[in-house]
Amino acid sequence: MYPNVHVVGHPLVQHKLTLMRRKETPTAEFRRLLREIAMLLAYEVTRDLPLTTEKIETPVAPMQAPVLEGKKLCVISILRAGNGLLDGFLDLIPSARVGHIGLYRDPHTLVPVEYYMKVPQDIGERLTVALDPMLATGHSAVAACQRLRDAGATKLRMVSLLSAPEGLKVFCEAHPDVPIYTAAIDDRLNDHAYIVPGLGDAGDRLYGTK
Ligand code: URA
Repeated sequence: MYPNVHVVGHPLVQHKLTLMRRKETPTAEFRRLLREIAMLLAYEVTRDLPLTTEKIETPVAPMQAPVLEGKKLCVISILRAGNGLLDGFLDLIPSARVGHIGLYRDPHTLVPVEYYMKVPQDIGERLTVALDPMLATGHSAVAACQRLRDAGATKLRMVSLLSAPEGLKVFCEAHPDVPIYTAAIDDRLNDHAYIVPGLGDAGDRLYGTK
């Protein structure tokens, strides 16, 4: 196992993931579960954020109270399934800045092709968390993180709900300094680059497009 891979084994995450995997889980339920899991993953990925203190007054007494230090996070949705994780992150971190990267997999080569990118200008001053529910081949996540670096990001983390061993290998070799947070590492990829057992096509299940 790679040292920068963090598997979030929290029982609530595992239970909700199982509900998401079931093929009979309807779209609305799938979307709600992903949003809930995103909050729990956001909790883990922000666990070591630096704190400072500021002076406040409670109704009883003044105190030095902890607050987050520095600029707030930047959360990047890797379109389109990344949007399914985005809302949960913003529920927990409402002042986070948001960027989007659109990449599609060329159906023949499976290589990611960029069709959209918009990220905050000051991304280099923020902890940047890239979101994609499925780390399958790893090529999209690798390409997205490379584009974020090119845009100036220095402190990067990757969140994927489900990962394939093949994708983790590709990602960790390309970005060994980027911690990756995932709820489960499944068995393998199939011939169509779907994660097995996985949960199917995350985008289609989120938006009911199939
Ligand atoms: N993307 C998905 O949505 N599902 C997979 O299994 C692999 C990639």
